[in-house]
Amino acid sequence: MRDLLITGAQFADGSTADLGVSAGRFVAPSEVHDAEHIGADGLLALPGLVDSHTHLREPGREDAETVATGTLAAARGGYTAVHAMANLDPVTDSAEAAEHLAALAGRTASAEVIVVGSVTKGLAGAELSEMGLMHRSAAGVRMFSDDGKCVMDSLVMRRALTYAKTFDAVIAQHAQDTRLAGPGACCHESEISGRLGLPGWPAQAESAIIARDVELAQLSGGRLHVCHVSTAEGVEVIRWAKARGVNVTAEVTPHHLYLGTREVERYDTTFKVNPPLRTDEHIEAVRAGLADGTIDMVGTDHAPHARQDKDHPFDIALPGMLGLEQALAVVIETMVNSGRLDWPGVVRSMSAAPAALTRSATQGRPIAVGEPANLVLVDPSARAVVDRDDSASKSRNNPYHGRDLPDPIVATIWAGRITHRR
Ligand code: DOR
Repeated sequence: MRDLLITGAQFADGSTADLGVSAGRFVAPSEVHDAEHIGADGLLALPGLVDSHTHLREPGREDAETVATGTLAAARGGYTAVHAMANLDPVTDSAEAAEHLAALAGRTASAEVIVVGSVTKGLAGAELSEMGLMHRSAAGVRMFSDDGKCVMDSLVMRRALTYAKTFDAVIAQHAQDTRLAGPGACCHESEISGRLGLPGWPAQAESAIIARDVELAQLSGGRLHVCHVSTAEGVEVIRWAKARGVNVTAEVTPHHLYLGTREVERYDTTFKVNPPLRTDEHIEAVRAGLADGTIDMVGTDHAPHARQDKDHPFDIALPGMLGLEQALAVVIETMVNSGRLDWPGVVRSMSAAPAALTRSATQGRPIAVGEPANLVLVDPSARAVVDRDDSASKSRNNPYHGRDLPDPIVATIWAGRITHRR
């Protein structure tokens, strides 16, 4: 791996310095030998982005995504690490499954893959997975989630939080009361769901579970992370819980920051996602939550789906949309360009906070001599029309296709290696 010399870049705090990279770490510029020069005048240098929520689909649905293609999409989006959700086939619910995914990543990934184990065996919601064994395995699992499904049983959730606490792991909940918003629910419950004739998914199906879970986090002393918060009510409950000192973090997806219920008017299944796209008052609430820190981080919920799983009537198609390649673009468009989030805020919510979820020693670190060389070079003013075919993902369910958006990612460096360069 060749040394790198990066000149002219500015950091999130406005300071500038040249950077050397050698043997996977930042070094003083004078310490590099026979280095490849990267001229970064006019660019921002940010710590490599970390995704709290990625679906890689391998093993099980390699036609939709693989570890190789998903992490290449991550690199193209400026990410140097992703948390790989457990709803695979087989489910990541054992030490063997966790180690298999970690080994696969070791051979094929273009970004660090942080393995997420499931909370319950087979995501069935009844019996805890081998959480302790997954933690002690070579995969070192520190986050557990049944994402895609909600852990509905309060006692199972209490036990998961209590057990995970003993090894400082976090339980990430997909908050969806499946009695209020059943498996068929696919449209924000509102005038629109009624008019389109689609089964409604009320905001309270999210906030009621978040309210229960913050109470269980307090009762158990465990660590709770709320996935893809999409409602004003959800943000309000988290704000209340944080004010009471509950150990809770939360994420918002790029699509819930940017896209709304109006997108589903044409029944285009690209826009079917769970939780569903919401109305303007909810979009405003999640933006405000991210701006004031109630929502700690951005998690993409990158959910690739093969065409045959999307080419169905709206209520039958699989939910989910791509997110890794355009996440920073959407955050710049919705939060930075409007003055609601500054660059240190971007670093916090897209790198440091997601890395802290699983106590990473290598990710979300400052750009400084001696630190692992995880970096993204950003052009904050470039724009382009998104083309879903210009993608590393195996899937094409890109909700930003055809939109004029920032085009910020110039280069990504993971552990001293260039994983993407425009
Ligand atoms: O839309 C979604 N798709 N939401 C989830 O929670 C799961 C994800 C998937 O795995 O496809």
